[in-house]
Amino acid sequence: MTLQALKTFVTQITKDDSLSVDDRLLSICKLLEKEVPYYDWVGFYFKNGDKNELKIGPYVGEPTDHIIIPFGKGICGQVAVTNQNFVVPDVSAHDNYIACSITVKSEIVIPIFVDGQNIGQIDIDSNTPDPFTDADERFLEFVCKKVATIL
Ligand code: SME
Repeated sequence: MTLQALKTFVTQITKDDSLSVDDRLLSICKLLEKEVPYYDWVGFYFKNGDKNELKIGPYVGEPTDHIIIPFGKGICGQVAVTNQNFVVPDVSAHDNYIACSITVKSEIVIPIFVDGQNIGQIDIDSNTPDPFTDADERFLEFVCKKVATIL
């Protein structure tokens, strides 16, 4: 399925009031992990109340020990402070990276904004080196905008 086609499904999921917000987020994770061959771990992290840390949300993929990530730590923690997309073609080239699985080669993290505030992010790990393009960034920005409407 193309990223364009996936947008339609993501929109439908976000609008499905019969599901809780967490179930909708999990459905989006499952859809993306299933349909995009190089998306191997797909999950959400959110700011943990008023603490300067992220807490894991719904995800699919290998279980992770990284339930809480302090702001500034790892790729995710950096996005929490820079408010910028972070595309990592080769995770081994980064010192400030938190490894979840030895199979992971690359990562993309896109922030989620609600009322201009960076309140969380979608995080995708890939077992493929350097797979992410501008099209992934634009697609995941779209996903984050849709998710922001239900938070
Ligand atoms: N690799 C991330 C940690 C989260 S896991 O990928 C699920 C990081 O460096 O922030």
